Amino acid sequence: MTDALHQDLLELAQEAARRAGELLRDGRPADLAVARTKSSPVDVVTEMDIAAEKLITGLISGRRPDDGFLGEEGARAPGTSGVRWVIDPLDGTVNYLYGLPTWAVSIAAEQDGESVVGVVAAPMRGETYHAVRGRGAWATGAWEGERPLACRPAPPLDQALVATGFNYVAEVRAHQAEVAGRLVPLLRDVRRSGSAAVDLCDVACGRLDAYYERGLNPWDHAAGDLIAREAGALTGGRPGDRPSRELTVAGTPGVFEPLQRLLEDFGAWHD
Ligand code: IPD
Ligand code: CA
Ligand code: CA
Repeated sequence: MTDALHQDLLELAQEAARRAGELLRDGRPADLAVARTKSSPVDVVTEMDIAAEKLITGLISGRRPDDGFLGEEGARAPGTSGVRWVIDPLDGTVNYLYGLPTWAVSIAAEQDGESVVGVVAAPMRGETYHAVRGRGAWATGAWEGERPLACRPAPPLDQALVATGFNYVAEVRAHQAEVAGRLVPLLRDVRRSGSAAVDLCDVACGRLDAYYERGLNPWDHAAGDLIAREAGALTGGRPGDRPSRELTVAGTPGVFEPLQRLLEDFGAWHD
């Protein structure tokens, strides 16, 4: 029963992510403008973020009217079925606004508060990543069928490629930059893609050794965290904690723990 339910949730999430991805890719107006701002003047929402969330919630609630929702652009419903959808309709809005290709649609289905299905569609890469709890992580792209995802064998920390992100609030990112500045000499290098969901999937794909960020919301990491874990990565927050707004860390085993310790020592979890 659970397997059948998870399969249904997966197929629905895949359809919603594919359709929203097509809308975003094919419907981006040449003169795309900022519709409003949120936490700071550089935390922007476009009409396309809003249209993509409407498409996703409309499709899902039409098929499963009793499910709950938590969507970045305002979808909120408690639901009565025990399933809640956690949605970032466009992760990487600033990239999208500027015409950079790294952005994604992120959709997770939670059951009793745990992610059981995660789908991240990255249309400009032509790739979609998905995971079902206990069934591994997979990608589809410009190849036949589904490819299993596995994170990289761990290098020593000084050869690790680690991504991070910066908050939209200037004071928060000033401290984040200090932490990143202390880390840079200890690693192979750092990356900042502009999409937390893509960063987490890149850990799952073995394209990054690790990723960390302070200040994420549930919709940024709900799907990508499950995909990374199902690909063999370890994920968490501060040592012993789950990923949270305070801190999200994901990495191949062997890099995860030393990185998490350094982040703790460098105070990456406070502003
Ligand atoms: C943002 C992206 C970015 C991360 C920010 C997120 P948005 O999401 O994931 O990479 O650094 O913390 O808020 O606003 O593009 O959906
Ligand atoms: Ca986001
Ligand atoms: Ca977003």
